Amino acid sequence: MSHPAGTPPLLEIEGLRTHFATPRGVVRAVDGVNLRLERGEILGIVGESGSGKSVLAQSILRVIPPPQLQRADGHVRFDGQDLMTLDEAAMRRLRGARIAMVTQNPSTALNPVFTVRSQMLETLRFHPDRRRDGVDARSRMLSLLTETRLPAPERIARSYPFQLSGGMKQRVAIAMALMAEPDLLIADEPTTALDVTIQAQILELFRQVRRDHGTSVILITHDLGVVARLCDTVAVMYAGRIVEYNRTAQLFKQPRHPYTRGLLASNPVFGQPRPSLTAMPGQPPDLLALPAGCAFAPRCSQARSSCHEVEPGVVTMTAPFHHRCPVQAEDGLLEGVTR
Ligand SMILES: Nc1ncnc2c1ncn2[C@@H]1O[C@H](COP(=O)(O)OP(=O)(O)OP(=O)(O)O)[C@@H](O)[C@H]1O
Ligand SMILES: [Mg+2]
Repeated sequence: MSHPAGTPPLLEIEGLRTHFATPRGVVRAVDGVNLRLERGEILGIVGESGSGKSVLAQSILRVIPPPQLQRADGHVRFDGQDLMTLDEAAMRRLRGARIAMVTQNPSTALNPVFTVRSQMLETLRFHPDRRRDGVDARSRMLSLLTETRLPAPERIARSYPFQLSGGMKQRVAIAMALMAEPDLLIADEPTTALDVTIQAQILELFRQVRRDHGTSVILITHDLGVVARLCDTVAVMYAGRIVEYNRTAQLFKQPRHPYTRGLLASNPVFGQPRPSLTAMPGQPPDLLALPAGCAFAPRCSQARSSCHEVEPGVVTMTAPFHHRCPVQAEDGLLEGVTR
């Protein structure tokens, strides 16, 4: 999706690094990430457990407790403004309003001592500028609870979180995140706890908020089927880095990085419902003991000796799309020459 000259993309991440100090050493959970999200776009982020997906989401919103941080730098430009240098008060005005997040564990989003209703209405009390004329907060709440396919929305609104099942809490968390009509919704595995039918309905809801409000979505998921159905672009993470970032159709048609190819190949039923990342052979690396060179090289059937020695740089296809396999880029070039 292109944007008119002079309008910055909704989100532009450049050289983002989030490193943690742990008793066993420094964990480079997010290590030099570049991404760009246009208005109304849905970006999927995939990668095995521990690859840094949630830390990336938390880094955008700056919700990582400082004592654990060893290093946090780079740029996160949201609508042209660098969030990395924004003061905390301005960040608070933005969180839950222009940028909302649905976390991997819905319980963290819900306060156990307040009803759903009071928490959802509080969002608009805290962000009065996000109220829309002519729409009262209560009817917005009820329509969102209905749209997230919660049965008996009135009753849900009167409930305390402990009275709800895990799947219901997840849907309440999604409804709450949409209360302020965010420009950007970051959803971290939002449907993992839900059964397939409700999952499909939630994904349809994301499509609908994009259509009706131009909301952009960053969707973190293990499910490549979800990516194929919903996302315009996709970023594949491995050991804190984006190893491949491309338009979804392009990435599925012509995966460049051997890890991406492995992910797709380990899903022979691709195109069928719900392929997952679980069948990838080998183990994700221990971030405290990363090998020299390319972190994927020990699992890579195409690795050359240089891959075990030199950290791969970024190979740009058409900006902002890129991958991190120089070997593949070289081969691609040779193929282009010889064929
Ligand atoms: N606050 C923290 N302090 C220290 N290390 C952390 C912290 N949060 C995350 N990590 C480490 O950062 C790495 C990336 O974690 P992250 O939660 O982003 O993975 P993920 O890709 O979301 O995995 P999953 O798919 O299991 O949710 C992991 O090695 C994790 O142990
Ligand atoms: Mg996670």
